[in-house]
Amino acid sequence: MRIDIITLFPEMFDGPFGHSIVKRAIDRGIVEIHLHNLRNWSTDKHKRVDDAPFGGKGGMLLKAQPIADCIDELKSQRQYDEVFYTSPDGILLDQAGINQYSDYKNLIILCGHYKGIDERIREHYITKEFSIGDYVLSGGELAAMVLVDGITRIIPGAINDEMSALSDSFQDGLVAPPAYTRPKIFKGWEVPPILLSGDEKKIDEWKLEQSIHRTKIRRPNLS
Ligand code: ADE
Repeated sequence: MRIDIITLFPEMFDGPFGHSIVKRAIDRGIVEIHLHNLRNWSTDKHKRVDDAPFGGKGGMLLKAQPIADCIDELKSQRQYDEVFYTSPDGILLDQAGINQYSDYKNLIILCGHYKGIDERIREHYITKEFSIGDYVLSGGELAAMVLVDGITRIIPGAINDEMSALSDSFQDGLVAPPAYTRPKIFKGWEVPPILLSGDEKKIDEWKLEQSIHRTKIRRPNLS
């Protein structure tokens, strides 16, 4: 999968994409990430990418021209499944969405900034707006990182034990059951004996019960 990210702050991605599963997926060629500094597309002599909104006070908007030119160039090179825009008023990102997007071949993510972008870009270029939660961040970069991380880790080959991605919280609409590792007793607290029983069927039943119970208590909106 190829992901093109349009941003004012490409350096912000170095940390999250330079470690762990995303880095491994990049190294293995499972995902290709291309960062584009929006400023490079500005035709303004001072490389400005923002301007004041018509008919309003306060807050700057990202101008249409650099965004349109950048997306036009990318689209002239290949077909994209979706042009995403990160925005607090987009649809809320969830596991079902991430699963769906992980099947895509080519994606563009435009990171929002300031008070947003010229509405004409939203109307004519953006195919989907997504939010990572009902709060306002200072920019869309963190949201783009969340989307890329969520997508990458479920692409086959990114995680060694594929079962572990499939058994994540939310994959079946349930949160994950409690999990334990060695030692069997820590500070006097014991691992539930069923997990040590070796009876796989009983263990699976117990895990499912725990997941259902936890989902009811912690995330009643999911059940
Ligand atoms: N940009 C600012 N806040 C955001 C949010 N909650 N989700 C996605 N993009 C954003």
